Amino acid sequence: MINIDATTKIYGLIGQGISGSYSPFIHNTLNKYMGINSVYVCFETSNIEEAIKGGIALGISGFNITTPFKQKAIPFLKDINTQVKLLNSTNTLVYKKDGYKGYNTDYYGFLELLKRNNINVQNKKILVIGAGGTSSTICKVLDDLMITELHIANRTVKKADIIKENLNSIKKIYTMNLDEIDEEYDIIIQTTTVGFGNSKIPIDIEKIKKCTYAIDVIYGKEDTTFIKECKNKSIQTINGLDMLFYQGVKAYELFNDIKVSEKIINDCKNELYKKVYD
Ligand code: ATR
Repeated sequence: MINIDATTKIYGLIGQGISGSYSPFIHNTLNKYMGINSVYVCFETSNIEEAIKGGIALGISGFNITTPFKQKAIPFLKDINTQVKLLNSTNTLVYKKDGYKGYNTDYYGFLELLKRNNINVQNKKILVIGAGGTSSTICKVLDDLMITELHIANRTVKKADIIKENLNSIKKIYTMNLDEIDEEYDIIIQTTTVGFGNSKIPIDIEKIKKCTYAIDVIYGKEDTTFIKECKNKSIQTINGLDMLFYQGVKAYELFNDIKVSEKIINDCKNELYKKVYD
């Protein structure tokens, strides 16, 4: 545990419904291993503009941004990198003189989730449920990995259409309402904010006749309803903990302008998995 003093730097997570977040654990554990004098806390808010202004006024060194602000935060930033411009989603803010610069480390987090779980998406037909900030990032990863066919289903189809406009490698992209999905996919990826605990999931899993993998970006010890229903249909399931962890490591590296060694990354990951599942 670091000694908090007058020079301790403060970082935090801005979002809604974040009291159960593991981001503080990830960042504070990395601080412990790296011997860096900073703390990471949660800032629950309903007003992203005031939160960012407050961060500037108080000299908060950086933030992670989560639901529902990954897109809404962008107008209040001093600068964004090209990836944020492209993805229209930011999850990491680093304080620069007079304001914050926005980055996107979810892209890296999702790539690592695929890699660590040996999921090959090439030549696959994939359904992404949702069309918010997380979805736009994941769809771009799939576009860069050149999948064969992408279906984006969302309550608001217009938002799925906007994501589609920004993709250029996938030949077949279809957008649709949540009740218009096909019966067969290689992979289904759940990115909406519904589905915590026992809440109802946004698609009818009974419709699915064939699917190899189901990924839910939501993470936690308990399975989400989506994961439970997929398991019942003998679909292999993966939750979002790897994505959370690796986006967190990348954000930590940006916050501190350092590279974390593979050994420390693995030690921290082991601690996280123990904390979540033991
Ligand atoms: P994030 O940054 O985590 O992706 P977001 O940008 O707020 O969060 O996106 C939330 C996603 O969850 C959207 O796809 C949203 O659908 P809309 O675009 O129609 O708003 C979806 N979502 C939220 N509540 C929902 C609900 N009750 N039923 C279906 N979809 C829902």
